[in-house]
Amino acid sequence: MTTKRELYICHQYLNFPVKNGAAMRKVRIRVGDQVVRLFDIEWAEGDVDFWAFTDISEFKDEQLIVEIVETEKKAPLDNIRPSTSNSENLLAIIHSDKVEGAEDLYKEKCRPQFHFTSRRGWINDPNGLVFYKGVYHLFYQHNPYGRQWGNMHWGHATSKNLVQWEELSDVLYPDEMGTMFSGSGLVDWQNSSDLKRGPNEPLICLYTAAGEYADPKVPFTQCLMFSHDGAQSWHKYENNPVLPPVASGSRDPAVIWNPEFQQWMMVLYIGKNKERENNNQHFALFRSKNLKEWERIQDLFFPGTGECGECFPIALDEDVEQIRWVFWTADGYYLIGKFDGNKFIPETEILKSTYSAVRCEKSIGLNFRGGYAAQTWNDIPPEDGRRIQIAWLADDIPDMPFNQQMTFPVELTLLSTESGLRLRSWPVKEIELLYQQKRVIQNIELSDTPTILPTDEHDLLDILVEIEVEDKSEFELNLRGISLIYDAEKQKLSCLDRTTCLKPVAGKIKLRVLLDRASVEIYAADGLVYIPISVVPNESEKSCFVYFPRGKGAVKELHIFKLNSSWAN
Ligand code: FRU
Repeated sequence: MTTKRELYICHQYLNFPVKNGAAMRKVRIRVGDQVVRLFDIEWAEGDVDFWAFTDISEFKDEQLIVEIVETEKKAPLDNIRPSTSNSENLLAIIHSDKVEGAEDLYKEKCRPQFHFTSRRGWINDPNGLVFYKGVYHLFYQHNPYGRQWGNMHWGHATSKNLVQWEELSDVLYPDEMGTMFSGSGLVDWQNSSDLKRGPNEPLICLYTAAGEYADPKVPFTQCLMFSHDGAQSWHKYENNPVLPPVASGSRDPAVIWNPEFQQWMMVLYIGKNKERENNNQHFALFRSKNLKEWERIQDLFFPGTGECGECFPIALDEDVEQIRWVFWTADGYYLIGKFDGNKFIPETEILKSTYSAVRCEKSIGLNFRGGYAAQTWNDIPPEDGRRIQIAWLADDIPDMPFNQQMTFPVELTLLSTESGLRLRSWPVKEIELLYQQKRVIQNIELSDTPTILPTDEHDLLDILVEIEVEDKSEFELNLRGISLIYDAEKQKLSCLDRTTCLKPVAGKIKLRVLLDRASVEIYAADGLVYIPISVVPNESEKSCFVYFPRGKGAVKELHIFKLNSSWAN
């Protein structure tokens, strides 16, 4: 009986068979005594649902030892012993230069066509967002081996235009300090970290090593990885952690350079404060001169689930002389204020973005769906000057070899409104790179007879519409069976399980909707309302229409852009 499989590495990948719902096996891959991969996987004994893979090109010409192992409860890593029962299945591993089953990659039935998803496995939070030498880097929480959360790695994708992404190999693998939880990325332009080697500025990511997922368990710590070659290869800093344990489960370091005070700032989620009833999610602000030593300067509290805080500057009303700082948290609770070098001083009460998730019962273990854990790109050059945000768009995408997606990137702007300072979210203009064909409809009077829109049954759409609504009317825009309803009497906009207030301006409302194969994203009031929803339209519904189920009104102007797939090439 085979107890382990030895493989001489001459190709790029190892492919593993996955059966959703099969017993979870622990797989360990070693080079000699060094464990280079350790993960849980629903190993297919017979039928294969999909093949998961890992890139092992760095071990070329070496001998890898792959074992399916069982852990005794609480056993230290050394006590993991080879299983006797299932190791013959290791013969199923395919060592080759291709991702097994990739013939229909990006053409799968529910594959989002202009929203980022991984080729294989689960994704959640965007991580390490940094722009360097013309390239947007998107790292993300990744389980390469299954459709569910777990084995947290950092995946990596790049784009020159925020629309067309190329997924590269994972960059951060779990180690004895833990699995790799969320964090941020930046360019150390002044080499304050002293990690520069060669011509490129050091690129640096701060991340959480989630020690409670290591074996044996250790506390959560904040660590650093760097790249000397413009993000092609990454190295964990030898003196990790840069921030020792703060509190149990403290995580998600978000770091940014503050040019005014010539210091790095870090937001860290500390944890839930059990003594507080409201606003019990505890965050702290740290500062540093070199990214390696950190001083805690302030503590802040928010409602919601906490997690993934971020502090970033933004121009008020597009005036770069008027910089404000936004303190943002995963659920979309945020403060706007100023930073005086020692502390963040809020100018608003705690505000809530409409982007965030709705609580619900879900089979995959998530109890929410919608936008979550958004992060913005660091180091976008001043001549561009945008603050661009992307978020995890949480919800199950059923029956695919991948699961979960990112929102379409939005540009954030800060506006003075009659209710006070507010953030506005608007799809980045690069979406126009996907525009295929435009149709315009003007001035149509509508009542309860649906008017079919000229979408030619296309399923990738960007629609902008301005509607004149009468006082007690109800308007519906139906997109392939997904209905978006505006109730003028209640001044409420709703879609699926989301509802938000929306006041007409001079008797009109404006909506923009992006429709993809597994999402609908709604922008209203010029982006003050932003509702991303993960949903797979019903296959049999192919048309889009507008009408007034109650009362009447008019579509003043409606623009339909059919979109190309961003994976086309
Ligand atoms: C938020 C989060 C983070 C954590 C990561 C783990 O979605 O829970 O707090 O770092 O996901 O995947």
